[in-house]
Amino acid sequence: MTTITLPGLIDVHTHLRVPGGEHKEDFASGTAAALAGGITMILAMPNTNPPLTTPAVLQAACAQAQADIRCDVGLYAGASSEDVAQLPALAEQAVALKIYLNDTFGKLRVDDLPTLMACFREWPRQKPIALHAEKQSVAVSIGLAAVYNRPIHIVHVSRREEIELIAAAKTQGLPVTCEVTPHHLFMDQADAARLGALGDMRPVLGTPDDVAALWEHINSTVDCIATDHAPHTLAEKRSATPPPGVAGLETSLPLMLTAVADQRLTLPRLIELMHTNPRRIFGLPEQPETQVEVEMTPTVIRNESLYTKCGWTPFDGREVAGRVARVVLRGQVVYENGRVLAQPGDGRLI
Ligand code: NCD
Ligand code: ZN
Repeated sequence: MTTITLPGLIDVHTHLRVPGGEHKEDFASGTAAALAGGITMILAMPNTNPPLTTPAVLQAACAQAQADIRCDVGLYAGASSEDVAQLPALAEQAVALKIYLNDTFGKLRVDDLPTLMACFREWPRQKPIALHAEKQSVAVSIGLAAVYNRPIHIVHVSRREEIELIAAAKTQGLPVTCEVTPHHLFMDQADAARLGALGDMRPVLGTPDDVAALWEHINSTVDCIATDHAPHTLAEKRSATPPPGVAGLETSLPLMLTAVADQRLTLPRLIELMHTNPRRIFGLPEQPETQVEVEMTPTVIRNESLYTKCGWTPFDGREVAGRVARVVLRGQVVYENGRVLAQPGDGRLI
């Protein structure tokens, strides 16, 4: 069995559900799940309840995070038409701005052009703008990046036409980066049909051709692997109105290690996608004396061993090629032999 040492991984797309969704996940449980997955830094999304669209709500979330996090966390501010005047004040406390152009879990949505234009004018240039953009919205996002000549990051790209349009934008020299999730790389429509609500998320799982397109671009157009960890309870998923979203923090690295074992990408490329590029794109700080030790050994993913509060994954029962053995954060052993050792408050707010 081979042991591999990686830098602390960075997930730029996590839902930690504070405030308002603490029964699904909270800062302590979500950051425990991150460490169990070899992830030492995460950026948390603003589609909470209430959403992180005002300085007061964002400030309260920051204070709660500071007390509860076990790994390092940065918060996104959310864009909304109602609170657009607050963008400069919001920017002081957030790592990046998230704009939702398409429907998903929560009410955050921007569907008017004046608000979009204000976001691109007012948000500080050195802080990234991340967009949930599907289908034609990808073209809208790229158009805004070109007009305002500022970097954008397109989250969870899932379709052939989307990744091909982004590749074309990059060829033109436009400042566009993007992320892909492991679930869009390792599952398709057939899994969605098999799993029902447990395989439903936004964007929905693609066709086999969409999945093939994402793999075709894994060594070129794709900048980051991001989990889109979006926990919901089994009871919610089994209800008449199941919310979209699946957990991902603890399965992302084991799945990507499987892709390395299958020679779909190299280990240096995995490190680019899960550490170097996220850090560069979002301007994130270095974590000194931080590393993840991985054992390349066949391992079956099991719901029972998860730290996420929701307690399930669509990958339950799947065999993967590696497991996280040990995580060291700033010289402290924070995860070892299946146990999270970091305490709430050990993480740093970015
Ligand atoms: C996310 C959630 O549950 O917050 N759901 C999802 O299906 N991905 C929202 C999102 O990222 O779109
Ligand atoms: Zn998300």
